[in-house]
Amino acid sequence: MKKISVGDIRKRKNGAKIAMLTCYDYSFAKILDDSGIDIILIGDSLANVVLGMEETRKLSLSEMINHTQAVARGSKRALVVADMPYVAYQKNSKKCVYYASKFIGCGAEAVKIEWFKDCHYVVKKLIKNKIPVMGHIGLTPQTVHLLGGYKVQGKDERGALNLIRQAKLLQDLGVFSLVLECIPYLLAKRITKSLKIPTIGIGAGKYCDGQVLVTYDFLGLYKDKKPKFVRVYRDLSRDIIKATSLFISDVKKGKFPTKAESFSKVKKK
Ligand code: KIV
Repeated sequence: MKKISVGDIRKRKNGAKIAMLTCYDYSFAKILDDSGIDIILIGDSLANVVLGMEETRKLSLSEMINHTQAVARGSKRALVVADMPYVAYQKNSKKCVYYASKFIGCGAEAVKIEWFKDCHYVVKKLIKNKIPVMGHIGLTPQTVHLLGGYKVQGKDERGALNLIRQAKLLQDLGVFSLVLECIPYLLAKRITKSLKIPTIGIGAGKYCDGQVLVTYDFLGLYKDKKPKFVRVYRDLSRDIIKATSLFISDVKKGKFPTKAESFSKVKKK
């Protein structure tokens, strides 16, 4: 079983499509890794789907570090990418290398950075310090208040040209891949065709070099919001409710545990 590297992902530009999923804990990491996923992203969507926060920018460094460590312990084959939380590079850009090194130190093999006004400075510094970077443009939740809310980005020519410019700049700075979130599919196609690095889309249509989904969305575990681009492959919430009701009923009827599920030997003194 060969570990997938940043170099392998770069080479996928004209090869097999890239499949990426988010992950936040050890057990899920093992399952996704065993399923053959290419990239496991410890997304800062952790804030919403696991910690119940409204905004991703509220996430603390220690929360992201703890979950990154757990995921890294469970991933043997997939490339592990950690989302840099807002506090680690947007709040104080000067400390970005220090914080990114912490993520690499706890098992991530690359970090992901969302586009923001000092993105150029941060990406340049990280790459100079040999930290592989995945870029992220379009709908960037950490700066959603500047984008007019959770809306499709790049819908007019000016917005589209701006995203094309950001994509080229990030490529020239050396990012190894680029997430395109919530943009029209023809714009994603245009960006994908114009770049030498792979694009990974979420709500960006089929012409990207890969696709990413939030695992809690595609498995039906998070139902507060249901974006148009999410395909629910399995409604695990329903399965969990069924299993839980059965457990409750078994406990109440005395059907659980059985003798086989109990310890029988009492040690004599
Ligand atoms: O945090 C996250 O889940 C992400 C994906 C949507 C790409 O950044």
